[in-house]
Amino acid sequence: MATEKMIKALNNQLFREFQSEYIYISMEAYFASQNLDGFANFFNVQAQEERAHAYKIFNYIHRIGGKVELQSIPQPKIDFESPKEVIQLALEHEKFITKSIHDILALAIEEKDYTTSAFLQWYINEQAEEEESMEKILNKIKLLKEDPAGILMLDSELAKRVFVPIPTE
Ligand SMILES: [Fe+2]
Ligand SMILES: [Fe+2]
Repeated sequence: MATEKMIKALNNQLFREFQSEYIYISMEAYFASQNLDGFANFFNVQAQEERAHAYKIFNYIHRIGGKVELQSIPQPKIDFESPKEVIQLALEHEKFITKSIHDILALAIEEKDYTTSAFLQWYINEQAEEEESMEKILNKIKLLKEDPAGILMLDSELAKRVFVPIPTE
């Protein structure tokens, strides 16, 4: 049985996933304004994934008889210097989310809440993938040294990303 403390921690993570969605939409807007439609597509898909991460928690809270309590989402950063800055910030954000998931898992273990521990395992794996994909893009940008032709090539590559629905039940 999940404790009140655990439901609160899950609601906080629910908030962070929706906040991630919002942050990535803001990054999408920056790239769209720069006519880098491939990067914009990448962040559009990223935002959709975050929404799915949120709904997975939303459904889990209900499944264990908890109450979903939404929080207000602060305005995300809306001005960026360069593609490199955006990707760097996105990577930092993913690392912050990984830590957040690790903290809830630690709480679940402490409370001997093995059902929630099992539920969180999916997020542990997902975060490893998220960090890896962001790190790969950042490394490519570093290699390019912001060379415009290279950025355009990377843009065409990122245009290919499609949203694959995540089971949220
Ligand atoms: Fe997420
Ligand atoms: Fe993420």
